[in-house]
Amino acid sequence: MTTFNEAEADALFGNRFLTELAPATSFPTSGMTPTDAMRLVGEELNLEGDPQRNLATFVTTWMEPEAQRIIAENLHRNFIDHAEYPISAEIEQRCVRMLADLFHAPGETTGCRTQGSSEAIMLGALSLKWKWKERQQAAHRSTDRPNLVFGGDVHVVWEKFCRYFDVEPRIVPLAEGKYTIGPEDVEPHLDENTIGVAAVLGTTFTGHMDDITGINRLLLDVKERRDLDIPMHIDGASGAFVWPFLYPDSMWDFQLEQVRSINVSGHKYGLVYPGIGWLVFRDTSDLAEDLVFYENYLGKTDATFTLNFSTGASMVFAQYYNFVRLGRDGYTYVMKQMQQNARALAANLRATGRFEVIGEGLEQLPLVAFRLASGHASYDESDIAWQLSAERGWMVPAYTLPPNAQEVKIMRALVKETMSREQVERLTSDIAAACTTLDQKGGTTEAERAQVKIGTGY
Ligand SMILES: Cc1ncc(COP(=O)(O)O)c(C=O)c1O
Repeated sequence: MTTFNEAEADALFGNRFLTELAPATSFPTSGMTPTDAMRLVGEELNLEGDPQRNLATFVTTWMEPEAQRIIAENLHRNFIDHAEYPISAEIEQRCVRMLADLFHAPGETTGCRTQGSSEAIMLGALSLKWKWKERQQAAHRSTDRPNLVFGGDVHVVWEKFCRYFDVEPRIVPLAEGKYTIGPEDVEPHLDENTIGVAAVLGTTFTGHMDDITGINRLLLDVKERRDLDIPMHIDGASGAFVWPFLYPDSMWDFQLEQVRSINVSGHKYGLVYPGIGWLVFRDTSDLAEDLVFYENYLGKTDATFTLNFSTGASMVFAQYYNFVRLGRDGYTYVMKQMQQNARALAANLRATGRFEVIGEGLEQLPLVAFRLASGHASYDESDIAWQLSAERGWMVPAYTLPPNAQEVKIMRALVKETMSREQVERLTSDIAAACTTLDQKGGTTEAERAQVKIGTGY
């Protein structure tokens, strides 16, 4: 016989949320116990994709327990309170100096932590715009119509910057078989109103780099022939933590004269959880002084160059942890391990006879971009992505490339630190199994595809 009323049973067994809908539309009148609230949130998240099987994302999904401990122990520290937390600010600057060294900055430099590459790009591009204004004003030229040149292979944040900050985007289109840009594409778009050229190191789409040395050569030539000093910003969101370790002899950073600023996401191949990014200038003079705010905050003058203000300090410490924990040797080891497994996956996919691998042999992020070999099947890459997710839970995105390569559909699997060789083999056989199912049923239906959505992944 039941001896409790309902309220007592809830209090004792602590799972009232299981028989009620989750609060969602109005501010809850009364609360629940910490255990109930924790389990409610946990149960909801169980229905999401498993980050470990998310091969769409560039973002870190695993850190060492010691790093996790640093993060957990510092969640209460507001990074922006430099007066109270001067060591946090110093650790940020140590990271900036280490990155400047990694990227071969020639002398004294400056930079900052950001929420990710998007904020870093907004700030870097704002500095390009301000420095361009200074040049125009010095030459008594108009500052009405700034433009920025970049390829269709960039992340959406570059167009976002142009719209938010009133700059004309001059976008070089891609073409079938050509998924990055070079100097010949850029040259026709340059004029006295060009605030800069943005080049990508490791595109979101196929993981390759723009011809950065070629563009640098072009910009030097334009400086000499047309007296236009156009700077280049490198979007190294993913690549700036990969190239220094996998391709140390490749030229893309401050060794090239026109490269004035670089962004990188600490939360991608910097191997830190989201959100942390970095912006590094070649020289202190490349940061437009007008963009730095000096304020008297809680009795101390503080200089800030950010779009956000308050934010956690944990990820800065986690980045510093990785730098001192891994060093160049450790990062090189991790990157090579990922590259080896990516190459194994590429070889496996080719060996199935069903797929062609895109841009194999070129310098590339540790990932595999692939598509069905032409005329192979009655279904396409989106069907495979769906079937694979439905059968085995892997999230491998399928997407079309930007204009004018929009007819090309590809799939892309990130091969991260946690992807073992065993998993590479399993993924290969799971993809083959999904294809066998599709061979039998001839594709997926709209309704099926609507059930599982896999984004491009960032
Ligand atoms: C080339 C590139 N630039 C910028 C970004 C935006 O980076 P974040 O997500 O760190 O803001 C991404 C994200 O995938 C990217 O791949």
